[in-house]
Amino acid sequence: MPPYQRIVILTGAGISAESGVATFRDKDGIWSKYSIEDVATPEAFRRDPKRVHDFYNMRRRDHATVKPNAAHYALARLEAEHNGEVTLVTQNIDALHEQAGSKNLIHMHGELLKAWCLLCDGRFAWEADLSLETICPGCGRPHGLRPDVVWFGEMPYEMDRIGALLEAADLFLSIGTSGNVYPAAGFVALARRAGAHTVELNLEPSEGASYFADTIHGPATQVVPAYVERVLKT
Ligand code: APR
Repeated sequence: MPPYQRIVILTGAGISAESGVATFRDKDGIWSKYSIEDVATPEAFRRDPKRVHDFYNMRRRDHATVKPNAAHYALARLEAEHNGEVTLVTQNIDALHEQAGSKNLIHMHGELLKAWCLLCDGRFAWEADLSLETICPGCGRPHGLRPDVVWFGEMPYEMDRIGALLEAADLFLSIGTSGNVYPAAGFVALARRAGAHTVELNLEPSEGASYFADTIHGPATQVVPAYVERVLKT
């Protein structure tokens, strides 16, 4: 394995599964209990903001009970110890990568523990429940705050920066994602075009498994620390 200089890592819900955070498309996943059209689109928020707030309030309360797992800690160790650039792009809105120590981190789908005021455009760390009546700490008004998460039909955050990182990558790891949702599902093709070595680490083959030069299947808490160990030995 050559010494990699510019590593880009994409994570999805599967890396947080063993921390007790529900994934979306596994059996009993979030989308088997809730409809995306009811809780994860701008139209849903306009139509029934209380239902959307309740969905994220429940996930925010659940988040207080979970902790990072060995896979999150392994990626933070890779960033801290690897002699090269390591950038973590996560689709997850949980804060488990930060809690494990990752710093060079992009939340392309936003963050569960952040609120965004549509009246003053302020963004705020937020752990409590949100409702239409919640007063914005920035502009002092109600009826403006929403979860700072990217809904279906909205543009993920920092796409230009992510595109530039993928074009320069020499190693691309995709961890715990089903490869169902674009643009993240297309990252492997961009990385391959840049000449990067591409590896999928997932419980089972994802939709995009055939695009990867290498696939390693198993629970993230086992396969991710082992792979990080190999990279750090190069
Ligand atoms: N270890 C590794 N992989 C796992 C584990 C585990 N313990 N448990 C589940 N997985 C894998 C599943 O096999 C699946 O491929 O994680 C993947 C989870 O896929 P999804 O539930 O579709 O989650 P994700 O890919 O992150 O979804 C992408 O879709 O709904 C939107 O915005 C949401 O960010 C999310 C996006």
